[in-house]
Amino acid sequence: MKQLDGRVAVVTGGASGIGLGMARAFARSGMHLVIADLDDGALQAAVAELEAGGSQVMGMRCDVSSHEQIQALADATIAEYGAVHLLCNNAGIGIPTATHSMKLADWKWIIDVCLWGPIYGVDVFLPLIEQQEEGHINSTSSMAGLVAAQMMGAYNVAKHGVVALMATLERDLRGRNSPVHASVLCPGPINTNISRHSVEYRPGQAKPKTDGKTSGKVAKSIQDVLDNGMDPNEVGDMVVEAIASEQFWVFTHPHWTKAVQKMLDAMNADRSLTRG
Ligand SMILES: NC(=O)c1ccc[n+]([C@@H]2O[C@H](COP(=O)([O-])OP(=O)(O)OC[C@H]3O[C@@H](n4cnc5c(N)ncnc54)[C@H](O)[C@@H]3O)[C@@H](O)[C@H]2O)c1
Repeated sequence: MKQLDGRVAVVTGGASGIGLGMARAFARSGMHLVIADLDDGALQAAVAELEAGGSQVMGMRCDVSSHEQIQALADATIAEYGAVHLLCNNAGIGIPTATHSMKLADWKWIIDVCLWGPIYGVDVFLPLIEQQEEGHINSTSSMAGLVAAQMMGAYNVAKHGVVALMATLERDLRGRNSPVHASVLCPGPINTNISRHSVEYRPGQAKPKTDGKTSGKVAKSIQDVLDNGMDPNEVGDMVVEAIASEQFWVFTHPHWTKAVQKMLDAMNADRSLTRG
């Protein structure tokens, strides 16, 4: 999609962090916006900010782990704007826990939001976007979609799934000369509210099945890395650039792909798994 001006973008998890960074970048490119999120306060603030900047914005509460709610989001988008050109499946959460300690309820929650959310997004929005002569679907994965580090089992599974979903989608779209393109965002550390939201939304909000000390330490070290991470507004600009240039991979920290190369090298050399 070469031109963004006047086109309609839907961003899930668009009230905070990377999603809000994308929404701001799309607004600067002249797009009309739909922001979907679970955080009502952040949603209101984001809509007010973007409208004050002169953009046309609709905010909608939507849980991406519900197909029904994604369908309602699409219906509301068409009712408001008559068309949709861009979907960003971005909402996500995660909790660090060792595989042997992870509760099934956490596996289900993380995979429902981080993987089923994008699958529902593609299912509902692709036919609508394909009605246009142009369009794009981007999903937010992670470097955890390429290398499975320890303590992040459910998140790794979901984010690997998102990479596979978007790579297959892009190949299928090219296979039938669709006007729609697909891409995947694999961020490194970005300074956002993901830790707070993940604790807040966790089903039952129970403490992690312990292993507690290790999980607590890992959570703290992840938080420290995120606090020093990239500004999410920079990520928004990268996504705009990738959509306009029909680029598939979007890396915020391209040097981190060396970990993927190291994994492939060890795989070929002696079939071992690199430490992570
Ligand atoms: N922050 C990072 O370092 C980082 C790195 C790699 C990938 N990511 C991914 O980036 C995406 C955005 O996360 P972020 O870091 O900006 O966090 P964030 O918490 O600041 O923003 C995510 C937004 O998604 C919303 N959300 C959570 N669950 C939802 C649901 N079920 N339905 C609808 N909205 C929901 C939250 O309310 C929040 O507004 C996620 O998919 C995350 O996995 C983040």
